[in-house]
Amino acid sequence: MALKRVMVLTGGGDCPGLNAVIRGIVKRASQTSDWEVIGCTESFNGVLREPTEIVELNEKTVEGLQILGGTILGTTNKGGPFAWPVKNADGTWTTVDRSDEMLRKLQYMGVDAVINIGGDGSQRISLGLAKKGLNIVGVPKTIDNDLSMTDYTFGFQTAVQICTDAIDKLVTTAASHNRVFILEVMGRDAGWIALHSAIAGGADVCLIPEIPYDINKIKKKIEQKYNKRHGYCIIVVAEGAMPKGGSVTGTETGEVGYQHVKLGGIGEQLAADLKAAGVEHDIRYTILGHLQRGGTPIAFDRVLATEFGVRAMEFVMEGRFGQMVAYHHPDIVGIPLEEAVREQNLVAPDSRLVHTAKGVGIEFGDS
Ligand code: F6P
Repeated sequence: MALKRVMVLTGGGDCPGLNAVIRGIVKRASQTSDWEVIGCTESFNGVLREPTEIVELNEKTVEGLQILGGTILGTTNKGGPFAWPVKNADGTWTTVDRSDEMLRKLQYMGVDAVINIGGDGSQRISLGLAKKGLNIVGVPKTIDNDLSMTDYTFGFQTAVQICTDAIDKLVTTAASHNRVFILEVMGRDAGWIALHSAIAGGADVCLIPEIPYDINKIKKKIEQKYNKRHGYCIIVVAEGAMPKGGSVTGTETGEVGYQHVKLGGIGEQLAADLKAAGVEHDIRYTILGHLQRGGTPIAFDRVLATEFGVRAMEFVMEGRFGQMVAYHHPDIVGIPLEEAVREQNLVAPDSRLVHTAKGVGIEFGDS
């Protein structure tokens, strides 16, 4: 029987565990004599570029990859086959749909199936291509944990651990200087990273996009944490958090093909607003930024990523296309791509975890 070819790619922001998924796919494929695995660089760009940028993946190339952060294939969160940026004669940019051209190219390359490892944006691309007949399987990744059809995305727990370690460090310096410390963490529209790390790190205040805050409630909590000038206060703020009646803090990057507002700056803004509201203690803020996405995945994410990789390859072998692998404890299941991207996974203000956080005295600015 002729060897079949599966192409693997990673799209969107990088995330600890991407390489562990690639390794799981390649190792599972190598147990059969039917499938060979190739990798496409920077999401689908490797196919769309001329000459193409494709790498061979075998057991040797994926050896030890479970511990390596980032992605050996490279990634991008700009453009894609449905919105490829093209420069106009006057220097402005426009986007063109190159999906049909790409599908023809994949056919010419002898690609029988594709595994797309990425977040909601990437899985929307998977869905669009599946509708055009491509044999595709999605694997959910993101530190934000904002995909609703999986209990967890890999990378999230690593990000939470990094934030928790940061809180542990901020506590000692905050206590030594009697300071208020604000830690700004990622998560886009979802407060999962902030919520989990605030509970794990024993923060006093947690501000998330799903619960707009009242600055006076935060001021009150800070004052409770001080006896005259002695005390300290740890505030974890998600990058997408906002005051009641306000909006998110961010900037347009101006980068070609980048379709998001780049969130960030709420920590600095909050420090200024607390000062303006009359908080007299010293306030400092720290932005963890991309440190949350870098480095090695923790064991949980290595295991989940490996499970996703192995199952995604098995879906390919079984011909289960148009699906995204998902973690429904204790199983790895398949979810139709259409359902997988339907809605975001956001923190419900009346959820068990928010209840737990309030149960240990964490202030959300709404009480
Ligand atoms: O979606 C993952 C994420 O890290 C978000 O938490 C963050 O807002 C965004 O990506 C940052 O993207 P970039 O890599 O473009 O700075």
